[in-house]
Amino acid sequence: MKLDKRGLEALEMTGKRVLMRVDFNVPRDEHGAITDDTRIRAALPTVQAVLAAGGRPILMCHLGRPKGEVVESLRVDAIATHLGELLGAPVTKLDHSAGAEAEAGVAASDGVVLLENVRFHAGETQGDPELGAAYARLGDVFVNDAFGACHRDHASVTGPARHLPAAAGLLLMAEIEAFRRVLDAPARPFAAVLGGAKISDKLPVITNLLQKVDRILIGGGMAYTFVVARGGKVGNSLVQEDQLEMVRGLEAKAEAAGVELLIPTDHVIGDGFSADCNTRVVKGDIPDGWMGLDIGPESQKAYSAALADCATVVWNGPMGVFEWPAFQAGTETVGRAIAACSGYSVVGGGDSVAAAVQFGLVQDMGHISTGGGASLELLEGKQLPGIASLPDA
Ligand code: 3PG
Repeated sequence: MKLDKRGLEALEMTGKRVLMRVDFNVPRDEHGAITDDTRIRAALPTVQAVLAAGGRPILMCHLGRPKGEVVESLRVDAIATHLGELLGAPVTKLDHSAGAEAEAGVAASDGVVLLENVRFHAGETQGDPELGAAYARLGDVFVNDAFGACHRDHASVTGPARHLPAAAGLLLMAEIEAFRRVLDAPARPFAAVLGGAKISDKLPVITNLLQKVDRILIGGGMAYTFVVARGGKVGNSLVQEDQLEMVRGLEAKAEAAGVELLIPTDHVIGDGFSADCNTRVVKGDIPDGWMGLDIGPESQKAYSAALADCATVVWNGPMGVFEWPAFQAGTETVGRAIAACSGYSVVGGGDSVAAAVQFGLVQDMGHISTGGGASLELLEGKQLPGIASLPDA
């Protein structure tokens, strides 16, 4: 896909209302308090750049999946308060995000505005063109900085660019640059570290990356389907029987393309799926009554060695159930190997980002993506509607 988009500097913003789509879909606790503000912080440079250019940011975002209805617990007031603290300037929160009330609210206030959760409108997730036009009436120019939502063809993501001069914000630009660097002309050797529970979720990404990488390192629950496809026994581990033929096909494609496909040769196993189950390390077959919950020490060593000389690494998905101490070593060791290699690394997908945070590796990674689904779809080789809707540079 074309990833060369017009940037902020191309927009005339002085004295203008700058309608901005941001991704403030942040995790919150049961009382609604924000537990991780990474996405809010990540959009700050663009908000500050708009202010510095004399523009007035009118921000819009979604929170959760309210399905077109007003859900009190999904109002964005707490986000507005927190954003104001981070900016050191008040943020006016409006209770509407489109229509006469929103237009009046924008006109009656000054400074930064945060509109209500756009998913309170049924037309938002349907990509309703009239709703897109209604949002556009709240701005003179449009900036998309919501990388994490760019895989959604939703009214607030793709609509305003049809009506207003538009550009990518600084965060979206940084994400585009990072993925372009690994997908367009990656420095070699190039390795993809892929994990996660289900092979069916990762088949498209493996298929696409097979054409680009030198090595693929497989971990997580999906590794056991590979083990079975190669004739191994995995006890009670997660296996998608209906994907075995697909996996064998991938293995054949990897061989034909000269791509080294590593699967674990030993495993940390448990006698149940719980944090405090009994654990063992086994090489080769996993006995009945036990399940693989992390890659073993021999595999950790082999994976670390395969990453050591890499000039480019993409990491999507953990190697095991890293949230439980007994099964965290695989993800931690591989994460450390990615952080230690001198090449350029991109970490995408919510779980691998959480692991990088948990193990204190963030500062040693080349790029930590703010988008889970969005980064996965880029790695699958898909067009992201939110990016495609912006004008080319
Ligand atoms: C995310 O959290 O991945 C994005 O904000 C998109 O949210 P969604 O999966 O509800 O569309």
